[in-house]
Amino acid sequence: MQLSDRVAIVTGAARGIGAATAALLAQHGAHVAVSDIDADIADGVVSQIMAQGHSAANFPCDVSRPDQVETLVAQVIARWGKLDILVNNAGICPRIPVEEMTEEWFDRITGVNMKSVFFLTRAAAEAMKLNRFGRVVNVSSTGGRVGGVHNATVYSATKAGVLSMTKSLARHYAPFNILINAVAPGAVDTRMFESIPADGVADYVATVPLKRLAQPIEIAHSILPLCLPDMTWVTGATLDANGGVVMM
Ligand SMILES: NC(=O)c1ccc[n+]([C@@H]2O[C@H](COP(=O)([O-])OP(=O)(O)OC[C@H]3O[C@@H](n4cnc5c(N)ncnc54)[C@H](O)[C@@H]3O)[C@@H](O)[C@H]2O)c1
Repeated sequence: MQLSDRVAIVTGAARGIGAATAALLAQHGAHVAVSDIDADIADGVVSQIMAQGHSAANFPCDVSRPDQVETLVAQVIARWGKLDILVNNAGICPRIPVEEMTEEWFDRITGVNMKSVFFLTRAAAEAMKLNRFGRVVNVSSTGGRVGGVHNATVYSATKAGVLSMTKSLARHYAPFNILINAVAPGAVDTRMFESIPADGVADYVATVPLKRLAQPIEIAHSILPLCLPDMTWVTGATLDANGGVVMM
């Protein structure tokens, strides 16, 4: 129970990587704010965590809205008295060809994937400063490392932005013992990857040294170590959780 009495927010926690991460942090003793734009599905995740005897509650939020992320942090602190851990996981990846990208979609993708990371990290870190302790993990992507495939140009740019912001914010908040890192997953078997055609998946898997897609829990196990209190000397780093498909 290395996270006993720690308080964590996981965004995009209704399904996929976020749901697996919320459950894993709770298993390690954290009180977990399961936060998602899809409150009904998030409720199921909370019920499952609580059925296993762990602590969680549902905090609906659209992370692209700075006013809502401020409220999220305030609500979590009102519930559990402090905030120790933030996992910026919520993301969208609509597969839109370059020729068909609209300004509305461009703004939506950047709002959910990148603007959210700045405003929620700032809101969280300002609260973490009070206790001079914090762990933030930003979920980026292999696309942020090498550019996107399968109509993910804007998505990949946001994920590269997340990596850059991880470094700047890590420097900014280091004096307060708030450590900020990123995890960059390769393809994971979630709803987000469902829209890729079967032959595209097979072509991708052929390039992965481990020869398969990841399961959400495997990414959760990459996020967990970066949340632990005894992880004290890593900040501004990116952990590539990608089965070896890209080695930086
Ligand atoms: N699946 C992959 O192959 C893959 C690869 C690399 C990185 N990632 C990243 O992992 C993260 C999780 O993705 P996933 O694969 O679990 O996808 P998913 O679609 O299964 O889950 C994403 C969650 O984010 C939530 N969400 C969407 N918009 C939101 C908003 N505005 N506010 C709050 N919540 C919102 C959704 O409701 C959903 O529950 C994303 O940041 C994604 O970019 C995924």
